[in-house]
Amino acid sequence: MTRIAVTGATGHLGRLVIESLLTKGVAPGDIRAVVRSPERAADLAARGVEVREGDYSRTETLPGALEGVDRLLLVSGSEVGRRVPQHTAVVEAAELAGVQLLAYTSVLRADTNELVLAPDHTATEAVIRAAGIPFTFLRNGPYLENYTGQLGQYLATGRIVGASGDAAVSGATRSDFADAAAAVLAGEGNEGAVYELGGPAFKMSELAAAITEVTGKRVEYVEVPVQQFVEGAKAAGIDPGFAEMLGVLEQCSARGDWRTDSVDLERLLGRPATTLTEAVREAYTALEA
Ligand SMILES: NC(=O)c1ccc[n+]([C@@H]2O[C@H](COP(=O)([O-])OP(=O)(O)OC[C@H]3O[C@@H](n4cnc5c(N)ncnc54)[C@H](OP(=O)(O)O)[C@@H]3O)[C@@H](O)[C@H]2O)c1
Repeated sequence: MTRIAVTGATGHLGRLVIESLLTKGVAPGDIRAVVRSPERAADLAARGVEVREGDYSRTETLPGALEGVDRLLLVSGSEVGRRVPQHTAVVEAAELAGVQLLAYTSVLRADTNELVLAPDHTATEAVIRAAGIPFTFLRNGPYLENYTGQLGQYLATGRIVGASGDAAVSGATRSDFADAAAAVLAGEGNEGAVYELGGPAFKMSELAAAITEVTGKRVEYVEVPVQQFVEGAKAAGIDPGFAEMLGVLEQCSARGDWRTDSVDLERLLGRPATTLTEAVREAYTALEA
């Protein structure tokens, strides 16, 4: 019996990983859902998953959270700037708990990527390597939901405004990234593996075309200078600091930071990744519901 823990289990990705483990036939009692707020995981507890409190910042919660765990998925935290000490605390607790496999949700080419979000992942990967626990790095590309989540706005304006030079990004659905993580956690032979994970690359103009095809409503991609992009985001009510960050992320996309030609994702899935068109269709169905 292998006991598998998933951190961030009340988050979007963590929840999907637990669903995928259950679908793969892992017994609920062998799964530990590590969460900040156990009351938000009552549905998982009701299904027999063991819910444990574990807050990356409250290190006293971590030994109990990881006790008896054989395999751990550390879902990278969401508090940018605080993540390295937080992740380090989890790695140290995993070491003490005798975890045999530590999988970590990193970012594409974490060791060389100039992506603004990469340094936290670079540092975390180094901490994990130094700890000596057998690891698997799941270097995730961008979630397709980063784009399809804005479908309502795209349809309302008929435009996708960007400053990425219409560079291609290798987006995949959270659900596919989660299935890949679950395949690693429930599978064998992934120790020491570094997976570059992404779906088929697409440009924003291709996203616009997919939306037009699926919805029958014309949407076009409009390229603007990055400063205009940032000002537009601010004018639309986005927090100024976040708007600046979105501008930086557009520049990262333009540089190709969100692109990979690796087929690691479909290898782990054992099937093709969800296509852009399928993801747009799903988002449109949800929007119309
Ligand atoms: N590849 C991409 O496009 C992309 C996009 C966005 C984010 N990410 C990264 O991927 C991660 C997972 O994505 P997601 O969509 O699942 O994000 P999410 O829904 O925001 O989930 C993040 C999870 O991390 C947990 N968390 C944050 N700080 C924590 C702490 N101090 N202690 C314990 N747990 C903590 C959150 O706990 P609560 O449930 O209690 O809030 C949440 O469950 C993100 O955290 C981020 O690092 C990747």
